[in-house]
Amino acid sequence: MLTSGGDCQALNAAMRGVVKTLANSGQDVEIYGFLEGYRGLIYGNFQMLTGKDFSGILTKGGTILGSSRTPFKTIRDPDENGLDKVDAMKQNYYKLRLDCLVVLGGNGSHKTANLLREEGLNVVTLPKTIDNDLWGTDMTFGFQSAVDIATYAIDCIHTTAASHGRVFIVEVMGHKVGWLTLNAGMAGGADIILIPEIPYDINKVIKKIEEREKNGSKFTILAVAEGAMSKEVAKMSKKDRKKYMENYKYPSVSYEVAAQIQEKTGREVRVTVPGHTQRGGSPCPYDRVFASRLGAEAGELILKGEYGFMVGYKNREIVKVPLDEVAGKLKYLDPEATIIKEAKLLGISFGD
Ligand code: F6P
Repeated sequence: MLTSGGDCQALNAAMRGVVKTLANSGQDVEIYGFLEGYRGLIYGNFQMLTGKDFSGILTKGGTILGSSRTPFKTIRDPDENGLDKVDAMKQNYYKLRLDCLVVLGGNGSHKTANLLREEGLNVVTLPKTIDNDLWGTDMTFGFQSAVDIATYAIDCIHTTAASHGRVFIVEVMGHKVGWLTLNAGMAGGADIILIPEIPYDINKVIKKIEEREKNGSKFTILAVAEGAMSKEVAKMSKKDRKKYMENYKYPSVSYEVAAQIQEKTGREVRVTVPGHTQRGGSPCPYDRVFASRLGAEAGELILKGEYGFMVGYKNREIVKVPLDEVAGKLKYLDPEATIIKEAKLLGISFGD
């Protein structure tokens, strides 16, 4: 088993679900935990684990195995000592006579998991990420816990924003997709939500702030995704965007939006970045249950010898999704989705 990529809540709950299911089957099971993600599998860094290691971890955030990012882009490149990483992973898998590799990961990790499947390994995966952007599943574990934390941040900002009559920006995680920002923004009562899938026009953002003031609201709260972008930037080619980002003078887009609002309106604007707190702490009850269910179903697939699947969630059912369908695709928010329409009906502006 290994946990790969950015961590999130309920990784431990999911692993516990797998192990409990295998242990309760009455079969003689050996569990190896690879440390720090694929790095552990590449370099043979692992621990043999027993049921005891998984006891008491349902509520614990982070991952007992540690995690790291091993970019898929360079997975075929030899490491600094000339080691073939894919070959090393296969060697370690066969040396330990493993029946199955269980990978808990997000997008990049699924590309590598699928590659290992193509290379002949038995692989079962579980969808983790606070971003909820994994294709093939309506929900990833970690997401609901992160929504809770980002919402709490917006709730706290609400009271101080109201006292001071300021414009506040809360920057929410998500470089490529806006699921977390949209959900936390709606739950926290944000007035403006900026997400990567709906490029914004700064003049529309300002118009909304001014409208609110005209209607007697002295403060405005914006929930801005890390990856939100203006219409101008969205129009750029990949190459031009890269050049633009090289000369970018702000720590992130929220600070740019703040500077533009301040400059064009003279209003006081503050930025709050909850950052990695969104990935930290205990999983919320939803994630504990959800990750445990996914883990249990993964355990059952292993017992049945059904490999090459991600255990996901579709239309309120736990499903198995072929890994080659999942790998390499992102689940974006559809700007035409009804939730966007409903948010707009509630008066939320997306700056479009
Ligand atoms: O993929 C999860 C995530 O938390 C994103 O929301 C965020 O943009 C990114 O990881 C942060 O990555 P890192 O932990 O490497 O700074």
